[in-house]
Amino acid sequence: MFSHVFVSVSDFERALRFYQPLMQGLGLERRFCEPERPWAGWHSAGRSRPFFVICKPHDGLPHAPGNGQMMAFAAADRAMVRAVHDIALAHGGTCEGAPGLRTHYHPDYYGAYFRDPDGNKFGVACHAPEAEAGAGIRIATYADPVHREQVVRLWGRTFSYGTAHNDPALGIDKKLAVADGLFFVALAQASVIGTVLAGYDGHRGWLYSVAVDPGHRSRGVGTALVRHAERALTDRGCMKINLQIAPGNESVAAFYEALGYGVEPRVSMGKRIAANIPGGGA
Ligand SMILES: CC(C)(COP(=O)(O)OP(=O)(O)OC[C@H]1O[C@@H](n2cnc3c(N)ncnc32)[C@H](O)[C@@H]1OP(=O)(O)O)[C@@H](O)C(=O)NCCC(=O)NCCS
Repeated sequence: MFSHVFVSVSDFERALRFYQPLMQGLGLERRFCEPERPWAGWHSAGRSRPFFVICKPHDGLPHAPGNGQMMAFAAADRAMVRAVHDIALAHGGTCEGAPGLRTHYHPDYYGAYFRDPDGNKFGVACHAPEAEAGAGIRIATYADPVHREQVVRLWGRTFSYGTAHNDPALGIDKKLAVADGLFFVALAQASVIGTVLAGYDGHRGWLYSVAVDPGHRSRGVGTALVRHAERALTDRGCMKINLQIAPGNESVAAFYEALGYGVEPRVSMGKRIAANIPGGGA
């Protein structure tokens, strides 16, 4: 729906000291920062739009906060809502509503509200049920290079990759190249404990690389990852999600069946494109 959103500020340096930690708390990436202009912008990791920009008013007149306008950032879980609200208040923001459930919007609406040092009003909201978001576990968009090594290690331990086209590092590079924002990790503190790699081609959505570290299984992390990917695919208009289970791993169908997936009578076929596989994929 949105391409970009501009919020004007009166003191750019002060605003940057407020917004940079806030954007980090939301897991967003800085797209640019040009203090001489001045302006700075951020977007979701791996996505180029929408992006959020702070700047001086375009017409050169003084900044004035609007009344009745508000922008709300999406948080992956309730802990993130609380953390972002704390960051805002610690960096010169003022409280406009403490973190908490607002069930009059919907049963799982968990939000908080604040103003920046210029008086611009913001919200931060998580729409996932607490059980799905997981106590202390956060689902985040994969960020390179922060998560790379841990993901490579997790996939190396979880999947028996015998083929060049399934090399974990190559898989990450290829996924980042399409920049679709559909690669997610489960984080316990800063450690990667799970992954899901989703894809949407306009016809079907797909799930790949659903993996949870053995030390964190049976606590709902796998479920939270799949649900998170499903929401992202749903937001893109996806009508059906497919996945494949490797031979020998059929028992994991029970995990997906509990999430509403059914085994379908299909013959799965594939063809390797040797020209794109290092070493030709022989
Ligand atoms: C499948 C996987 C992602 C589930 O992660 P998780 O965090 O344990 O998932 P949840 O806690 O949300 O759900 C666990 C439940 O799923 C079901 N389940 C998970 N793996 C299962 C399997 N191999 N066979 C049967 N049931 C399974 C069980 O009901 C389990 O509950 P239980 O531990 O009380 O028996 C994890 O087991 C994993 O990484 N497995 C190895 C990689 C893999 O096979 N991925 C799927 C590729 S298609």
